[in-house]
Amino acid sequence: MPNRDEKILVVGACGQIGVELTLQLRKMHREGVVIASDLREEHPLLKGTGPYVSLDIMNKETFHVLVLRYNITQVYLLAAILSATGEKNPTLAWHINMQSLLNVLEVAKEENLAKIYWPSSIAVFGPDSPKHNTPQHTVIEPTTVYGISKFAGERWCEYYFNRYNVDVRSLRYPGLISYKSQPGGGTTDYAIEIFHDALSNGHYTSFLNENTYLPMMYMPDAIRATIELMEADASKIKVRSSYNIGAMSFSPGDIAAEIKKHFPDFTIRYKPDSRQNIANSWPRSIDDSEAKNDWGWKPEYDIERMTEDMLKNLQH
Ligand code: NAD
Ligand code: SER
Repeated sequence: MPNRDEKILVVGACGQIGVELTLQLRKMHREGVVIASDLREEHPLLKGTGPYVSLDIMNKETFHVLVLRYNITQVYLLAAILSATGEKNPTLAWHINMQSLLNVLEVAKEENLAKIYWPSSIAVFGPDSPKHNTPQHTVIEPTTVYGISKFAGERWCEYYFNRYNVDVRSLRYPGLISYKSQPGGGTTDYAIEIFHDALSNGHYTSFLNENTYLPMMYMPDAIRATIELMEADASKIKVRSSYNIGAMSFSPGDIAAEIKKHFPDFTIRYKPDSRQNIANSWPRSIDDSEAKNDWGWKPEYDIERMTEDMLKNLQH
């Protein structure tokens, strides 16, 4: 049951995850409880659904004032530079991904905020991590600036929990597939583009090779995982860095075959670019047994169900 005194701020609410998370949180809470914020203009799907404020999370003072003005008790921090974009400007990606998190953790500490959510990624793993069923605790030597920033962010989250008792919670999302808002510059974006191109011209040129397997998840599962983690009793949250979570694992070849079941004339060509190196450094599948054991995580969508749902919604 949502607490009547909660006031929730979503930072980066106009991105791929932010739009859907904000809409879901607004379904669960009274009007005015969930405040959306972003650098960008308000996303069309958010318009008319609740309060929206323009915010650059890099400005700690503005963020602090906003927290006080709206009596914010929980923050979901989704602003970040993703893997492929990060490689184009590594120092900027490091700066934004780290400083945004430190600004939120510091204000959470100073104002004694109730809960913070910050996502990590499968990108924390590197070429020397086990590729199959990558465990929660294993070799973590990321080779992208995005992965380095996510790993450092995980350490900061655990540090603020241990040292200052900030109740910060985190998931290592796999690649997320969705249709409501555009993806933001990641290596797994091919798994969204392929649906749009299949429907618009019956063909897709993949920037990853046919057999590049990566852990993936459909957005409804990711939103549910996020909210279930945030609603779990604090005593159940044993991992204060970030939890592995999984749902499915597939390659461009697999998803093309799945789309062909619906559109037999669909064709695909493989033309890998620099994103192939990023994908090669990541796990093929994830062991999420700690999330399952600690707070009951269970995915609902596999590749068949996700493909059907994506095609149905994109054709509307
Ligand atoms: P996105 O790029 O689609 O959205 C990020 C949003 O943050 C954008 O709307 C952007 O305008 C906003 N933003 C950027 N800088 C900002 C700033 N300084 N102040 C305020 N807002 C700012 O990203 P996403 O896919 O929604 O990802 C959200 C989080 O989840 C990120 O931390 C990302 O690393 C993580 N994640 C995403 C995926 C995925 O597949 N989408 C997978 C793993 C982890
Ligand atoms: N989907 C994200 C990316 O490719 C993974 O964190 O960057």
